[in-house]
Amino acid sequence: FGNTGIGHTRWATHGLVNERNAHPHTSCDGKIAIIHNGIVENYVGLRDELTDAGHEFASETDSEIIAHLVEDRVKGGATLQEALRLTAQRIHGANAIVVTGTSEPGVIVGLRLGNAGGIIVGLSDSGNVMASDLLAVLPYTNRVVYLASGEMAELTPSSVRFTGIDRGEIHKKPFKTDISAASADKGEFPHFMLKEIFEQPEAVSSAMRGRVNFDAGAVALPDFPFAQSEIDAIDQIVLIGMGTSLHSGMLGAYFIESLARIPARADNASEFRYRNPVVNENTLVIALTQSGETADTLAAMEEAAIHGARRLAIVETDGTQATRMARGTLLVRAGQEIGVASTKTMTNTVVTLYLLAIHLAKMRGQISTSQEQAAAAELSTLPGKLSRLLENSTQYTEIAAGLTGKQHLLYLGRGGMFPAAMEGALKMKEIAYIHAEGYAAGEMKHGPIALISDAMPTIALAPAGPLQEKMISNINEVKTRGGDVIAIATEGDSIIKRIADDTLFLPQADEAFSSILALIPMQLLAYHTAVALELDPDKPRNLAKTVTVE
Ligand code: G6P
Repeated sequence: FGNTGIGHTRWATHGLVNERNAHPHTSCDGKIAIIHNGIVENYVGLRDELTDAGHEFASETDSEIIAHLVEDRVKGGATLQEALRLTAQRIHGANAIVVTGTSEPGVIVGLRLGNAGGIIVGLSDSGNVMASDLLAVLPYTNRVVYLASGEMAELTPSSVRFTGIDRGEIHKKPFKTDISAASADKGEFPHFMLKEIFEQPEAVSSAMRGRVNFDAGAVALPDFPFAQSEIDAIDQIVLIGMGTSLHSGMLGAYFIESLARIPARADNASEFRYRNPVVNENTLVIALTQSGETADTLAAMEEAAIHGARRLAIVETDGTQATRMARGTLLVRAGQEIGVASTKTMTNTVVTLYLLAIHLAKMRGQISTSQEQAAAAELSTLPGKLSRLLENSTQYTEIAAGLTGKQHLLYLGRGGMFPAAMEGALKMKEIAYIHAEGYAAGEMKHGPIALISDAMPTIALAPAGPLQEKMISNINEVKTRGGDVIAIATEGDSIIKRIADDTLFLPQADEAFSSILALIPMQLLAYHTAVALELDPDKPRNLAKTVTVE
């Protein structure tokens, strides 16, 4: 038995998913082993150069290049740390690398280059570890250090040394995280995703703790980092994120505009980062990322910094890269989410954004005390309403059973229900592999209506509110063309119940809250459809929980 090892779950970027391409990759002499997260963007040229120099490649990956580059430098007399530092000068792109070798038994060296692939070092008296995710470190220790871009860590069982690729030795102080490893247990649930769906009432209560004073009817965010004068100067808010976090941002923009009356828009981080966006010091850029490590979102934050924008991060875990790139952080407090498809972290992110919208509305003098009290009163009922939605699972399993034979689904909504529809469609794609599109219902006549038939059911989000009559027209338009409709409506709505084929009811709530509540039936529909199709919702194919490459 040795006491030093490295391993990696590969997310394939170059080369098929097979054993040959699996990590670790080794050098020609087998004396160097590496694992790698990222993309070596100049790998074609480097591979040719190494092949010409006599190196033989065993895999089709870009990663293997690194093992050969390190090998050459170790053969030239370099230590592993020095060899990896020199290798960093040759490779392009954002990469996290860990290397070990027979020349220095017991030593592993990690390097982070750019904002892809985080590396978290865990320190303890019984050994030291490093991993790409905090959750992997927690079973061993809660004393951790996050590597920043350009930083390296050299570990032995009894020592840790940090260096900068161009600075020599550096001092990094470990901090104690209070997140525990206990949450990585399914308990009585068959899947993490279902467990996390059911945790939402409790999670939402955590998001509000210390931020909503229910007795006084007041909302305040003690962690909000910007002063009154800064908020007075803000002339636009851009919410950036990817996947579900982007949908949270769309809802957040809707809350902020309607409550705080500040122009707000959600932007896909991977587009924002390359667009030379019009943002400046009067822009507040809010990065939404439950992991705090999504490569595109971090790069978008960097772009925002170049333009001088003020930056706020909304994340699950303090200490992650996004929190270090922002002036301040609001934690969503959902608790660690294991299911790849986000559920409770979206709900909590959206609730946090709602609180932020009220907070900004107060700072900008856009909300009266009675409006704030009404919002606090609605917030106090949210956990209970979420619990009620979770009570009767038969309705979801029955409708899901009818969806298993479908290849296409349309989700329609207006206002806050539009981002909710996008998210409902994403959940169905992610875990049940059914093609689903979320549309603003008003857009239906401009294309999607041509697809309506009995082969493509529509999920229509039509809770009570000013836009409901418009949604009823859309439902009728689908029905007239032979499409089935599953409606999501407000309890007691007999009109929708009559015209839709199936109706799932939400508790009575004001408009903004209905768009939060509507997420739950759509999560459950996707979950039960996946289960009925005998798919594992916790491990959707091709998807990763945290996307640390571009
Ligand atoms: C991946 C996950 C999604 C998540 C997205 C953004 O695609 O599968 O569930 O919404 O990344 O992740 P983030 O950590 O930035 O919120």
